[in-house]
Amino acid sequence: MIVHSGHIPQEAPQKEALMDRRTFIKTALAGTVVSGLTAKIAAAERYFPAKVDKSLFEGVNHAKNPAAKTPLEKSHAPVITHPGSVKAGEQFTVEVSVGETLHPMSPAHWIEYIELRIGNEPAGRVDFQARGFLKPRAVFTVVIPKDAAPDGKLTLVAQQHCNLHGLWESSADITVL
Ligand SMILES: [Fe+2]
Repeated sequence: MIVHSGHIPQEAPQKEALMDRRTFIKTALAGTVVSGLTAKIAAAERYFPAKVDKSLFEGVNHAKNPAAKTPLEKSHAPVITHPGSVKAGEQFTVEVSVGETLHPMSPAHWIEYIELRIGNEPAGRVDFQARGFLKPRAVFTVVIPKDAAPDGKLTLVAQQHCNLHGLWESSADITVL
């Protein structure tokens, strides 16, 4: 009695399986090399950032045309959110974000502080550490006494400092009733 072992028909699928495994290993290795390289580049950018534009450190930077901000201005010009009209002696909040597109926070590139001036008076400042735990946004609780705005108007001035892109300022007028 002849019993078919069945090994002949199985030979082809075994070869295919072997090739598949080799192809898979090759692909996996290539993937590991590529992802390793990407990680190295990311680490280099993280700890040894690209050269800074020194002209940004020569003065205070502003969004040149607030209606058509450049990508750099969008992520650096402070955005001041305020009620527009406030009552003297009553509490309100002013939020300052950096910026319209929230600026990144990492050990190589971060916002060092946000400051708020009310008229010519320094009102407050929030300092940020570089580990990236916080987003570059601060909320100030404000009360304007009547005698601080005799003509019924005040200007809010927000500044922020980016370690790679310098000092940036925005301002907004409010009415004080
Ligand atoms: Fe920046």
